[in-house]
Amino acid sequence: MKIINMKNATLASQYVATELFKVIDNNSAAVLGLATGNTMLEVYRNLNTLISANKLNLKNVKTFNLDEYVGLNASHPQSYHTYMRQQLFKYNDTWDEKHIFIPNGISKDVKAECQAYEQHLNKYGPVDIQILGIGENGHIGFNEPGASFDSITRVVDLSDSTINANSIHFDNKNCVPKQAISMGIASIMQARRIILLALGASKHTIIQQLLTCDVTEALPASILQTHPNVEIIVDDAVYFGESNGDHR
Ligand code: F6R
Repeated sequence: MKIINMKNATLASQYVATELFKVIDNNSAAVLGLATGNTMLEVYRNLNTLISANKLNLKNVKTFNLDEYVGLNASHPQSYHTYMRQQLFKYNDTWDEKHIFIPNGISKDVKAECQAYEQHLNKYGPVDIQILGIGENGHIGFNEPGASFDSITRVVDLSDSTINANSIHFDNKNCVPKQAISMGIASIMQARRIILLALGASKHTIIQQLLTCDVTEALPASILQTHPNVEIIVDDAVYFGESNGDHR
């Protein structure tokens, strides 16, 4: 696990976008593992620019998102389906709908939905490059503290910390779904390469813990210490623990 301080959110996001771009540019049938959240907004802006500047054809690229809220349909403004459409997929018409995988949060049979998601991952995977954000409690995907390192895609309960952090996107805390479908930790760890991006002073403490702690299910991201190809990309605020005012 290697940490790189890119100084600010702009440079960090450009780096992550460029790494994603290089993977698709080298392999037109690449498999991407994608994340949502505030941290990724500038990554997708940069990736869209690189894709269009280089006229990439994305029809054979597969994408797998980490998670979706249970109970939100694909057109709900706060669903991760909407997020991905708005931040990435709508900017290029060569993305192929049938190669875009995001869990269906309103599936009538969530168990079957989760199994089907894993089957798709096994069919097209392993993921060539997985990007991750991190929760202030150390979650990756929505694998909250205590999640089993053997977990695969399933329904999870969101922790209070996650509900509080994500309530800024909803009218109030009570509107935040209490559950999500999340790729499991074992599913994430199958990726060939992982880049975790953490920006802003609020992520300083958890990244310090991640770098120094034992591998423990109490801090889900700590499993990344055992993966052979992980980079942690941060800005000054995460690295030094003070806000430099340029994030968000
Ligand atoms: C999002 C996801 C989460 C976020 C994390 C950080 O798909 O799986 O793990 O990456 O909660 O969120 P932000 O970037 O909003 O701080």
